[in-house]
Amino acid sequence: MTDIEIKKGLAGVTVDYTAISKVNPDTNSLLYRGYPVHELAATEPFEAVAYLLWHGELPDAEQLAALRATERAHRALVPAVQQAIDLLPPGAHPMDEIRTAASVIGAVDLADIGNVMDAVGTPDENLDRSIRLFAALPAIVAYGQRRRRGEALVPPRDDLDYAANFLWMTFGREADEVVVDAFNRSMILYAEHSFNASTFTARVVTSTLSDLYSAVVAAIGALKGPLHGGANEAVLHIFDEIGTADNVAAWLDQALAAKRKIMGFGHRVYKRGDSRVPTMKAALDTLVEHYDRPDVLALYTTLESEFVARKGIYPNLDYPSGPAYNLMGFDTLTFTPLFVAARVTGWTAHIMEQQASNALIRPLSAYNGPDERHIEGYVPDAAVQ
Ligand code: CMC
Repeated sequence: MTDIEIKKGLAGVTVDYTAISKVNPDTNSLLYRGYPVHELAATEPFEAVAYLLWHGELPDAEQLAALRATERAHRALVPAVQQAIDLLPPGAHPMDEIRTAASVIGAVDLADIGNVMDAVGTPDENLDRSIRLFAALPAIVAYGQRRRRGEALVPPRDDLDYAANFLWMTFGREADEVVVDAFNRSMILYAEHSFNASTFTARVVTSTLSDLYSAVVAAIGALKGPLHGGANEAVLHIFDEIGTADNVAAWLDQALAAKRKIMGFGHRVYKRGDSRVPTMKAALDTLVEHYDRPDVLALYTTLESEFVARKGIYPNLDYPSGPAYNLMGFDTLTFTPLFVAARVTGWTAHIMEQQASNALIRPLSAYNGPDERHIEGYVPDAAVQ
């Protein structure tokens, strides 16, 4: 063995610069292009934050109108994507569904490009691809949930902004303003978070000069895991297991004795609380009031206080967003695809940043397998010495 220091999980390793977002665990802050995320969530539509992530500045009225027009033009589920989704078995997980759909979008879009060198695209082409994916993913999420419920596709509405239209396509009715607002905030909070596992995955794929769609498909695969995006779904499974606030203490005793990870708590970077939680918790509070569900809040606060008291590990964004999406009416399995629809903005911003100053990402490993050995009876070939 060597004396090489291994950083398991790349913990604490800084691998590159980024101008897209800054996570500061010491001040418990998260900035997108310099703006605190809670300020963006309180004031901006998600489309404006997408523009900010891609361009580095918030849009003026004309720029926002132009982005919205393009987004509206690409909202509808295209036939090839709908057919691909319809071919999947009804039990397919929605994350597998959206990963497949994103792959189909890429295959269709790049169909006329005959070689791998051209598929990587120019900066302008990649911005267009980013906007088209951003516009197309909500219909996939919405259709997926409706298909699982045996409901028909609801086409998009041109008179609604991104968040209101997303809810319209999912539920087939106009959402109340308080719900649209909470949903918009959740999309902004989920949009970007520096070199998290899925974003880093997208950057690794991009670093090989592969195309933007391939990088996004790989990122979706990384996000599915319950240690990352899959945690928002997992939080609701835990809530369902516990049932009511009265059961929290006994349930936690058992879960901790079994050394279970409590989903929605803990973070690789934030050790004293996730900077996005207060904003999402405030949105959850408005939903609890709107739907008159104090029982949800009781379970939420009891589990949080008991777990923090016992382990000193704080909630992450998935903890308030899980019950918030549940109250809005999303199926539990749809939660992580919602994260995809939001994070595609951050992923694509990182893909374009990686393309602008690329270096192949190819780390080293320290070998700890068997010493060199040989195949019995192998006769050395002079030509390969
Ligand atoms: N429940 C119980 N114990 C925990 C938890 C948890 N949620 N999180 C950390 N710990 C314990 C862990 O068991 C370990 O204890 P010990 O030192 O005794 O073995 C210690 O805390 C350190 O944990 P770790 O997993 O080595 O730390 P990490 O920095 O690698 O983990 C994490 C970060 C997010 C993977 C982890 O906290 C976790 O698994 N949380 C639950 C899943 C979750 O909510 N994920 C969403 C993350 S935020 C949103 C996103 O990025 O998508």
